[in-house]
Amino acid sequence: MGESMGKLRRTNMCGELRATDEGKEVVLMGWVQRERNLGSIIFVDLRDTTGITQIVFDDTISEDVFEKAERIRSEYVLAVKGHVRIRQSVNPDIPTGEIEVVAEELKILDEAETPPIYIKDDDNVSESMRLKYRYLDLRKPGMQANLKLRAKAAKVVRDFFYENNFVEVETPTLTKPTPEGARDYLVPSRVNPGEFYALPQSPQLLKQLLMVSGMDRYYQIVKCFRDEDLRANRQPEFTQIDIEMSFVDVEDVLEINEKFLFHLFKEIKGIEIDLPIKRMPYKEAMERFGLDKPDLRFGFELVDISDEVAESEFKVFSSTIKNGGAVKGINVKGYGDEFTRKGISSLEDYVKTYGAKGLAWIKLTDDGITSPIAKFLGEEELEAIIRKMEGETGDLLLFVADKLNVVYDSLGNLRNELARRLNLLDDKEYNLVWITEFPLFEYDEEEGRYVAKHHPFTSPMEEDIHLLETNPELVRAKAYDIVINGDEMGGGSIRISNSQLQSRMFKALGFSQEEAQDKFGFLLEAFKYGTPPHGGIAYGFDRLIMTLTNRDNIRDVIAFPKTQSATCLLTDAPTRVSEKQLEETHIRVDIRKDE
Ligand code: AMO
Ligand code: AMP
Repeated sequence: MGESMGKLRRTNMCGELRATDEGKEVVLMGWVQRERNLGSIIFVDLRDTTGITQIVFDDTISEDVFEKAERIRSEYVLAVKGHVRIRQSVNPDIPTGEIEVVAEELKILDEAETPPIYIKDDDNVSESMRLKYRYLDLRKPGMQANLKLRAKAAKVVRDFFYENNFVEVETPTLTKPTPEGARDYLVPSRVNPGEFYALPQSPQLLKQLLMVSGMDRYYQIVKCFRDEDLRANRQPEFTQIDIEMSFVDVEDVLEINEKFLFHLFKEIKGIEIDLPIKRMPYKEAMERFGLDKPDLRFGFELVDISDEVAESEFKVFSSTIKNGGAVKGINVKGYGDEFTRKGISSLEDYVKTYGAKGLAWIKLTDDGITSPIAKFLGEEELEAIIRKMEGETGDLLLFVADKLNVVYDSLGNLRNELARRLNLLDDKEYNLVWITEFPLFEYDEEEGRYVAKHHPFTSPMEEDIHLLETNPELVRAKAYDIVINGDEMGGGSIRISNSQLQSRMFKALGFSQEEAQDKFGFLLEAFKYGTPPHGGIAYGFDRLIMTLTNRDNIRDVIAFPKTQSATCLLTDAPTRVSEKQLEETHIRVDIRKDE
């Protein structure tokens, strides 16, 4: 049973007191990080959100206070009144390490059971335990620091956009399905039997409507919901910094966003990023790095050797090219010695997870060439390949032959994997790049038609509009992504604001007039009444915070995240609901109780 605070009121935080506070009477409140009972003297490390102060109970206090102090255990909640004194042995590891507080009065505000996880960063406990006991996990200084940085970043975002005449507008969470790619989360309507709202995948259409409304510049820090397969940097429920602007083209959107990113890095990290941010067309990114989100902190660029091996005796290469594929390689420059046969074989396993059938290699050593494919290659051919790859002694050359998309995906990811294995990634470095000129469409094998790569309202580049009907695959979009250290942090586009062009776009996507009307009718209707040219962008706010805190797990920057299987271990959501709730919402569940 806890005591009440009585008349005690906190005078200071646990991370605050310094040598200059010597002699002050203070009241501290917090949790017990640890206690050491040495018989005649008890030390307690008292923790709150600002840090830790050492409290001393000794023979200067009354016997009953000392006896109470003997009951103190980890994570008890205390109020302590005492005087600040200089410590005999300074602890250089904590900011309050020069002082301690000699206790005079003690209230045990609450007792605590032994916590199931240690309140300590890097405690190596399983993530499921951390999520189940999230409120304890959030007591850790590292997690508190992440949430505080996140809060500060949100303030920096609001200040910046407010100062630049953007208006924060809230858009509804109960809405209609949005035209983004993922599945919707549905919410049944009680008062409209059989009908459903969708939670927004993004406020895309609504922010465009706000431009029709004449809001001119909109932003919002907004929750988005996507029922998609989760990865390390994805959550079913995540936060965007969503932005839309009127009377702009690509340059204008990029310019204000560069100012924003500069400001954000400056305020949060004290770093001045280089402006203007590099720009790279999608095509170049794919050809050089195999991915549309290249990590530019290291080399290992892709090299095409298709011409060199088109007529090769090594059928893996030549037949791939005859079948319309490509052969490309990476020169792991100077790191050949780092990879044994076994090491290379594990790289081969790695590329196979991206659909590659194998990983051919040539190692250039002091003792000559080692390679499992050299015996299939003529001497001239081998020389030509090495020349094209700019191979020198000490290098390892790696090749994949396959359909172009498999070559890109496997080598692009292999490139990143090589950098990870070789420890080439400096997380203090922030390498930003805009990827521009994305293709407007991508072919969907399943649907047998072109689908919008970004969304159906993305504007084609003017110089490519004439290709819409004849060569849709060649049409480039006014779309851009911001990539930081190989992660997509945000993306956006200039929208179509011309109804004729929009009709051609729908046709290219294979939508009938009726389908277009059914899906986006309210937007098309709105566009009839005077639409400014407009465009925007949305950042993944959680991802930005991951980058700014150097975390590689999105859950570490969200207070109450979901697991990889979209569950909440703390509250046990999602759950079955009562028959009554189902009835009220007119839902019959097609799963038997024992399933
Ligand atoms: P997009 O779908 O590219 O664009 O999303 C913008 C950014 O949101 C982040 N993001 C995610 N973060 C965490 N978990 C997820 N599941 C997740 N999905 C996306 C990414 C991404 O770059 N309406 C358009 C923007 C626009 O055109 O203005 C949109 O939503 O960092
Ligand atoms: P094999 O003749 O199948 O034993 O292959 C010889 C070498 O070529 C092995 O190192 C394989 O990993 C590699 N290899 C096989 N298929 C491919 C491919 N599609 N692309 C690149 N290398 C391959």
